[in-house]
Amino acid sequence: MPTLRLDKLLCDSSALSRSEARIAIRTGRVSVDGAAERRPERKLDPAAHSVTLDGAPLRWAEYVYYLLNKPAGVLTATEDAAQRTVLDLFPAEIRKSGIFPVGRLDKDAAGLLLLTNDGAFAHELMSPRKAVPKIYRALTDPPMAEGDIPAFAEGVILGDGARCAPAKLELLPGTECRITVTEGRYHQVKRMVAARGKRVRSLERIAIGGLRLPDGLDRGAYARLEPGTLMKSVFQSSTSVHA
Ligand code: URA
Repeated sequence: MPTLRLDKLLCDSSALSRSEARIAIRTGRVSVDGAAERRPERKLDPAAHSVTLDGAPLRWAEYVYYLLNKPAGVLTATEDAAQRTVLDLFPAEIRKSGIFPVGRLDKDAAGLLLLTNDGAFAHELMSPRKAVPKIYRALTDPPMAEGDIPAFAEGVILGDGARCAPAKLELLPGTECRITVTEGRYHQVKRMVAARGKRVRSLERIAIGGLRLPDGLDRGAYARLEPGTLMKSVFQSSTSVHA
């Protein structure tokens, strides 16, 4: 575990800014292993000490992971001069941990989006080598047809001539279908559907690997994920594009 200054540890694991953290420490609100510590510059290993603010234990984590149920109409970006971004759905105390979206969902798409400050995890999840399956629920116009299933399984050829990796298409009642892809090409699902002469009317990501969008999580709401559970569900998935 790294050694951190006490004011940084407090700022990272509470709603306080760095200057508020310094004041809280100097005014005796912070204890280390049961004794008040008034030196903001005190260095310590968070794993080896118990730190409290006003008697409540602090939970420090170097990396944080969030699952957001992204609403349509919000940009997948960390900031934008004119439009609301997914970061605007998080309070300042979480934003200050440096989270960013892993991959992207189009502005008009909804559903499961991961955000983290763990660059190595993001890189691994996006790596084409890992081929992590992403599952989408789409409404199309007209509905996808039986004949589209083998075309998806063989690898759809997009309008620009690029051939996609094999994908799985499942037809659902009405205009609905489920599409599983292992790549992350720009507008991938919309372009695959367009290559079959249809149009996506609405798109929702419902899973990444074995990690599902939880039923009870409202649009615009997020849940913090524990790293162990996240890695296991994302990378050890039984989801496959093969029937
Ligand atoms: N495919 C798309 O077309 N859009 C998304 O947002 C994700 C996958």
